[in-house]
Amino acid sequence: MAALADMDLGELKAQLAAVEAAVHAKQTAAEGAAALAGTIKNKYSKLYDRVSVSAVHACPEKGASLIGASVVVGGWVKTGRVADKGALCFLEINDGTGPVNLQCVVRADVHAIDELKATGTCVVVEGEVKAPPEGASQAVELHVSKVLHVGPCDAAKYPIAKKKISLEFLREKIHLRTRTNTIAAIARIRSALSYATHTFFHDNGFLYVHTPLITQSDCEGAGEMFQVTTLLGAADEATEEAPAPTSEAIAAKRAECEAAGEAVKTVKDAAKAEGGDKAAVKPAVDAMLKLKSELAEMETAARKIGGIFRDENGKIDYSRDFFHEPTFLTVSGQLNVETYACAMTSVYTFGPTFRAENSNTTRHLAEFWMIEPELAFADLKDDMQCAEDYVRHCLNHVLKSNRADLEFLSKMYDKESLARIENVAQNAFGRVSYTEAIEILQKAVAEGVKFVYPVEWGIDLATEHERYLAEQVYKKPVIVYNYPKDIKAFYMRLNDDDKTVAAMDVLVPGVGELIGGSQREERIDVMERRMTESGLDPAEYEWYMDLRRYGSVVHSGFGLGFERLILFCTGMDNIRDVIPYPRWPGNCT
Ligand code: 4AD
Ligand code: MG
Repeated sequence: MAALADMDLGELKAQLAAVEAAVHAKQTAAEGAAALAGTIKNKYSKLYDRVSVSAVHACPEKGASLIGASVVVGGWVKTGRVADKGALCFLEINDGTGPVNLQCVVRADVHAIDELKATGTCVVVEGEVKAPPEGASQAVELHVSKVLHVGPCDAAKYPIAKKKISLEFLREKIHLRTRTNTIAAIARIRSALSYATHTFFHDNGFLYVHTPLITQSDCEGAGEMFQVTTLLGAADEATEEAPAPTSEAIAAKRAECEAAGEAVKTVKDAAKAEGGDKAAVKPAVDAMLKLKSELAEMETAARKIGGIFRDENGKIDYSRDFFHEPTFLTVSGQLNVETYACAMTSVYTFGPTFRAENSNTTRHLAEFWMIEPELAFADLKDDMQCAEDYVRHCLNHVLKSNRADLEFLSKMYDKESLARIENVAQNAFGRVSYTEAIEILQKAVAEGVKFVYPVEWGIDLATEHERYLAEQVYKKPVIVYNYPKDIKAFYMRLNDDDKTVAAMDVLVPGVGELIGGSQREERIDVMERRMTESGLDPAEYEWYMDLRRYGSVVHSGFGLGFERLILFCTGMDNIRDVIPYPRWPGNCT
């Protein structure tokens, strides 16, 4: 005070103004932080008035603009570290909204530390956002004043408590693996790619069409379909039923029927001789009809083998199945989406597809998701351009929206993956005809490159050939087009050379085939010929032929295997790690 009393009036006024300004700044900052904390609240998670961990980090200055604000966050403890001889603990928590954890400081007088510190514990905490000590990697930490929820976790039993866990092991703990940084990062990238898919097609005027999962037709003609039937469930019950009648029993019943027929004849003759009393005949006829219907029932029951009814030729009687016909899970939505393209021009379907191929590879799943655009008034060139633009759009999107996740995965699994995505996002794809590709591969063989499968015109390219083209020759995605007709599906348009079809595959480094597509055969006579050649019965595809019969149009499309795109983006090695619930031969957990 004495010092103040010594100041002259002018000095005092200046000091006062400075203090007022400082008070004002402090107040505005606190109000600003509180207001900001209010705006980032989770609109549909009002229960605790919570903000997400990623929202904290996303606030201006990496969250530092929130300093001074009070917030509630919830999540699972990644690591808990006790400090100060048990006076406090540091909890790294994550709620799956982003790759960066939030450090929460809890004092022992706020909550019992032992209840919180175990990895896997779920917590909801309230506290003040503060600046961390000098040198911390993050811009903020939360000083907890209240613990609102604890979902305890026994660290000794928690299957994924350890720091280093193999991806194989995690596949056995499928229900918990999402708690790991890796699987969570992949899940976010997967969701972003799905969003990018819809925005790309929406922005380019495509209509989203839902195609059926249960179907009768094998689009790819490869005979790799899962059957859909309700017959088998009933078959099990058959074991509890009476055994099927023997052939002796049936023969005996038939003899009874014949005898009854004779009896009817005798009664009829007698009735006629006596002047025609028809009523006298009825009991004999009724007896005969009853026996006949019993015989028919026995004969049908005898054709039920292992609880499943058979027809006269011993084939399964599908008229008794749910759809009255054999049905399957779809291998591709293409045929169904074509009907929409041939009426609404640019369309796409995006859904699960199923293949019962016995491939235990790192690139195959029995259930995977496919994006299948189909364009009317478009040829193979348009198709290839669409495929390239779509893939590059997706990559550009995740590079922007999921950079931190991509960086994390690149660091952990494939140091080159990020550079590869950037390269592919920025540069045009290569294009080469199948015939030229074979020449390139043959030249490589002549120069000493070793492939397991021999290279000659007419072969279906193996993954080793596809990856050699993309990784060694082009060093970027390459589209191979005009494949031999004999290795491709019946619906692909026959080229004028009569040897190749207007098909295309997009091959990418690290993955191999990402996309398969084609211009579709729009000439009904050519299609009929190709179907017969491929051993298909055109009669079963009448509806598909109608698209050519009535107002046929040049049209094209492709299918992108969604998990293969995720493999490419994440740099992961095994397709089983990029889908939430992978299905492969012998595994459906
Ligand atoms: O090349 P595919 O068999 O093409 C079709 O199904 C066409 N009907 C698509 C169309 O033209 N509308 O399959 C398309 C893509 C492949 O390039 C591959 O990326 C992926 O689907 N794919 C698989 N992905 C995971 N597991 C499997 N078993 C796959 N089989 C194909
Ligand atoms: Mg293919």
